[in-house]
Amino acid sequence: MLAFREIQKEFAKQQVQPILYSYNVLKVATKDFHPSNKLGEGGFGAVYKGILLDGTHVAVKLLNKSHQQVSEFLNEIVLMTGVRHKNLVKVKGCSLQGTQRLIVFEFVENKNLAEALWDRPIKSVLLLDWTMRFNICVGIAHGLIYLHEYLQPRIIHRDIKASNILLDKDLNPKIADFGLARLFPEDISHLSTAHIAGTMGYLSPEYATLGKLTEKMDVFSYGVLLLEIVSGRKNIDLSLETNKIYLLEWAHSLHEQDKLFDLIDQQLNNNILDDEAQRVIDVALLCVQTSASRRPSMSHVLAMLLNGVDMEDVSKETNNIHEMEISNLLGFHHVVPNNHGNVEIELSTLDPN
Ligand SMILES: Nc1ncnc2c1ncn2[C@@H]1O[C@H](COP(=O)(O)OP(=O)(O)O)[C@@H](O)[C@H]1O
Ligand SMILES: [Mg+2]
Repeated sequence: MLAFREIQKEFAKQQVQPILYSYNVLKVATKDFHPSNKLGEGGFGAVYKGILLDGTHVAVKLLNKSHQQVSEFLNEIVLMTGVRHKNLVKVKGCSLQGTQRLIVFEFVENKNLAEALWDRPIKSVLLLDWTMRFNICVGIAHGLIYLHEYLQPRIIHRDIKASNILLDKDLNPKIADFGLARLFPEDISHLSTAHIAGTMGYLSPEYATLGKLTEKMDVFSYGVLLLEIVSGRKNIDLSLETNKIYLLEWAHSLHEQDKLFDLIDQQLNNNILDDEAQRVIDVALLCVQTSASRRPSMSHVLAMLLNGVDMEDVSKETNNIHEMEISNLLGFHHVVPNNHGNVEIELSTLDPN
């Protein structure tokens, strides 16, 4: 174990300065990780709200056990602290207590996009109008471009989904959990990986079936998210009529019937900008194509959201969306849902190795 002073020297050597919090400070800030302070629990650990002695609000993530060396962990924290973009949640620092690792993030005021769209106690109040939704689509694209195209080494998020998009006080989107995949190196590989983790409904076919991981996996999940933002519903909703349960399948059949605007959230009462809505839907369909190489890059996505989509591309390219039915896809695997909505899929019949 590195001594406190050595760790700080290590931080100082790099140009960024993550704050090294003492475990006790975070314990006090979160009222001993009291359940009433719990903001949620994802695949990597539970998140608690904390208020530091100087009054700063923070979010503290207690990471699940990782087998990573302390020095590698600190390296990743340095990398994550150096990532600064208005559409990515800021990492303030970390803490180490025995084998327990904690990451401290800036606190983001307005919960997450899943709650804003469908997880609220009072669903009848429309929280996000069209302008806000379009702004959110554009903001997430900016954040992903930064991760995929500007950072060195680039970061593939791997778990783009509504609950990982936080909303600040002005309802601007901030992507959370970026970089967490990097803290668990046994799970990441740019070629293939035998252990697939992610969230059901957002996984691209090549990742779910072959473990093939590229940034096009995030593009696929982003496409699913766009459809969720436009429709105001989850990508899998068992309470709906059979033909609507899987958002992607429903979108595909509406596309065939030339009725894509039926997707649009009724709560918006038609208060939308038709051409923006059309662009979001068109871009979404390009992003969820089965063939990863046909999916656009995130900078192409942004250009199309802002300037329009070549319609020929859409009709040509969406033909292959559902070559692979969702049900077939899940049939390949032993699907193990965990207790916070994520699925861990283990390759059974289709092991690439
Ligand atoms: N920095 C943060 N500020 C405010 N809330 C946060 C922050 N980070 C996470 N949260 C909240 O905690 C929830 C749980 O986060 P997480 O553990 O990543 O689970 P998941 O993303 O699977 O829902 C998020 O959905 C969000 O509502
Ligand atoms: Mg999360």
